[in-house]
Amino acid sequence: LAIQWFPGHMAKARKQVQEKIKQVDLILEVVDARTPESSRNPMLDEIIGEKPRMVILNKQDLADPALTREWVQYYQDQGFAAIAIDAQHAKRLQQIPQLATKLMAEKIARKKARGIRNPMIKAMCIGIPNVGKSTVLNRLVHRNIAVTGNKPGVTKNQQWLKASDNFQLLDTPGILWPKFASQKIGMRLAFTGAIADAVFQEDVVGLYGLTYFMAHYPDALKKAYHLTDADLQAAPHDLLVKLTKTQGFGEEFNRMAERLIFDARQGKLGRFTLEKPGEIDADTE
Ligand code: G4P
Repeated sequence: LAIQWFPGHMAKARKQVQEKIKQVDLILEVVDARTPESSRNPMLDEIIGEKPRMVILNKQDLADPALTREWVQYYQDQGFAAIAIDAQHAKRLQQIPQLATKLMAEKIARKKARGIRNPMIKAMCIGIPNVGKSTVLNRLVHRNIAVTGNKPGVTKNQQWLKASDNFQLLDTPGILWPKFASQKIGMRLAFTGAIADAVFQEDVVGLYGLTYFMAHYPDALKKAYHLTDADLQAAPHDLLVKLTKTQGFGEEFNRMAERLIFDARQGKLGRFTLEKPGEIDADTE
């Protein structure tokens, strides 16, 4: 589900999130482990200010494990708590309340000193659409709702939901807009499905993906589409032409591009990550 963002939506989303932030001790910033930096909201630092934050790299089941480890380390080095999880399969999810308790230890101790017996940590999930905020939230609070309010600008009465004895979450995630800083970031977000397919031409996004996989995950391509080493020496455009034919799409390059994007999102091209910690500064300039 992707939303098209306009300045009015952004202002409204920001205002809503800022209202909610006042009520919480801790922010759970959910990002996509395949595009950790590109899938962050560009103004989050400004929006949440000094609030403690945990970066949750979700969809780790789809991401390159070695790079996920690098990214977790990268965020930890920046002073954030960071954890990689797979919310869909509830993998490592139970570590979030534990990490939150550790992160908030001082505040909890202060409250206890004031006579509060079981101080509650109040938190909320924040992130751009489609990173898995609702899934993380629902799994953390053991709730089984397929669809949560996934539109910015919809207000309703808020509730606190229990994740553990001392950990509560706001019942709706904060939804913020994605980065539009560069073509490269746009490609990554489009390829993983974080921004609307309609915004991008699938042949351009597909060719971006093919080029990236040829350079970084050639074996996955070989296996999925029965390619040879020689095929992978071709120019990406020529390989797209060849794949279009061999996969039965004739000359409809768009359909092959669409297939490639679909296969990648489904995990049929193996686990992948589209950016590395050292590369991001160059990308955003
Ligand atoms: P959001 O609230 O941030 O917008 O995201 P949401 O939880 O709705 O999750 C978006 C999609 O990502 C969902 O797929 C969800 O099942 C999937 N997802 C969430 N967490 C994980 C994860 O850790 N691993 C994997 N592999 N998938 C995850 P969907 O319902 O099929 O929606 P869509 O395909 O229509 O986007």
